[in-house]
Amino acid sequence: GEGGHVEDFDFSFEGPFGAYDQAQLQRGLQIFTEVCSACHGLKFVPLRTLSDEGGPGIPEDQVRAYAAQNFEVFDAELDDTRPATPTDHFPANTGVGAPDLSLMAKARAGFHGPYGTGLSQLFNGMGGAEYIASVLTGYTGETKVEAGTTFYENHAFSTGWIAMAPPLSGEDVEFADGHSNELHHEAQDIAAFLMWTAEPKMMARKHAGFVGVLFLTLLSVLLYLTNKRIWRPIK
Ligand code: HEM
Repeated sequence: GEGGHVEDFDFSFEGPFGAYDQAQLQRGLQIFTEVCSACHGLKFVPLRTLSDEGGPGIPEDQVRAYAAQNFEVFDAELDDTRPATPTDHFPANTGVGAPDLSLMAKARAGFHGPYGTGLSQLFNGMGGAEYIASVLTGYTGETKVEAGTTFYENHAFSTGWIAMAPPLSGEDVEFADGHSNELHHEAQDIAAFLMWTAEPKMMARKHAGFVGVLFLTLLSVLLYLTNKRIWRPIK
């Protein structure tokens, strides 16, 4: 199989004024919890950040309940495991060979071209979320076994054959908000959630960037007028 084909999904957080869609991040968290967490960890993500304004925005008491219900952590002081609390991180990997997903959306680029110039990234972004959604929707159904490992043909994965069985097939989860659970939607929701885990401060960054540009624009105008005034007697 031939890999590296990434589809350009539309995400709410694209562009200078784009923002995460809280309901989408919450659906993505549900997919992570019910499907991906069977193999993948999110060890760099503190559970308490699920309450962040610029993130999923889940109320603190609900995060507390979610952590306790879904994850066990090893506590060195107790020398035993206990239910997770918001001050813990998501657990690390559980599946053999399955990479941690905390930073995956920044570790992979979806767009490279044209001809390897990377110019597409200037207009479309790095495409990490597109890459993840494309992997999840990129299976052809073909498999092969090499040295005892099963590989699944996948249009988006670099080599064209990935060792992860298709984790989503559509209708894998039921969303409380009634949102569609077709494969394309599920793939986009989990990709958006993993974009947030990789870049939890994206909203703050874009805001700071906007304020910075505004400030520099104003400064330019004032400097221009100052310059005119200083040189008026000489010209
Ligand atoms: C690799 C996402 C569920 C096992 C990956 C990669 C991503 C990913 C983005 C990395 C691809 C790359 O290296 O470029 C997800 C998502 C899941 C999910 C979003 C849930 C919807 C699972 C499950 C398992 C699993 C349930 C185990 C049964 C693996 C393995 C790899 C992998 C073994 C390494 C594949 C390779 O390098 O060939 N996954 N995964 N994943 N995943 Fe998953």
